[in-house]
Amino acid sequence: MAEFVVEFGKSGAPAAPDGRLHGPAFQRNHGAIWSALSPFLLGRTGDVLELGSGTGQHIAEFARLAPDLTWWPSDIYPSHLASIEAWRRHVGLANLRTPQRIDLADPTWSWMADGQAGATLTALLCINVLHIAPWRVAQNLFAGAGRYLRADGRLFVYGPFMRDGAHTAPSNAAFDASLRAENPEWGVRDLADLNALAQGAGLTAAEIAPMPANNLVLAFARSSPELIK
Ligand SMILES: C[S@@+](CC[C@H](N)C(=O)[O-])C[C@H]1O[C@@H](n2cnc3c(N)ncnc32)[C@H](O)[C@@H]1O
Repeated sequence: MAEFVVEFGKSGAPAAPDGRLHGPAFQRNHGAIWSALSPFLLGRTGDVLELGSGTGQHIAEFARLAPDLTWWPSDIYPSHLASIEAWRRHVGLANLRTPQRIDLADPTWSWMADGQAGATLTALLCINVLHIAPWRVAQNLFAGAGRYLRADGRLFVYGPFMRDGAHTAPSNAAFDASLRAENPEWGVRDLADLNALAQGAGLTAAEIAPMPANNLVLAFARSSPELIK
């Protein structure tokens, strides 16, 4: 069964002296996630905003792999924002920018690019967040993607998901039960419910990529890109 981490560094590996935290799942999953993102992202330019960046390890690695994109990390916990900044300094990539506090529980969340209101995005990325957060976080993620995605942009969401009310594996069912026991507002989300949120935001499911350990990468695109400037 998967394990969930709410705040990195509270248990498990302590922070490095410079504040860098290490997520237990990063080494296991970043290569597979990149294999789902890279066909769309490689060769593109523009901005990618990550929500719930955690330690900052994913975005630091993806910024290295896609230097033509500008990568913007975010999170809510001060220790995570400090870790992301420490990873940013550690890797020293010009296309990996300073983390910002974005709370997806806020329906009016917005992003900033170097002190200016953020413009439209090539992609939004949200890894392992929606099951460890209340449903309104998913609602606000999709609504924000509707506000910010470029006409040809993508929202990528990684995690475990249910299909048509059923778990895809016993391990995901056990994980879901452990999440809900910890917090009744958490839980493995159903693809149908996310597709309904997407539809409400003017998005449509573009792709589903199977990942190791019964996880998925979901990609959402605009339903009517020709209507977007
Ligand atoms: C399980 S961690 C995943 C972190 C990272 N994406 C990864 O996969 O290693 C969930 C992350 O979501 C963040 N988070 C929780 N609630 C949030 C919210 N309301 N808005 C934005 N981020 C949130 C947490 O601080 C944490 O960094």
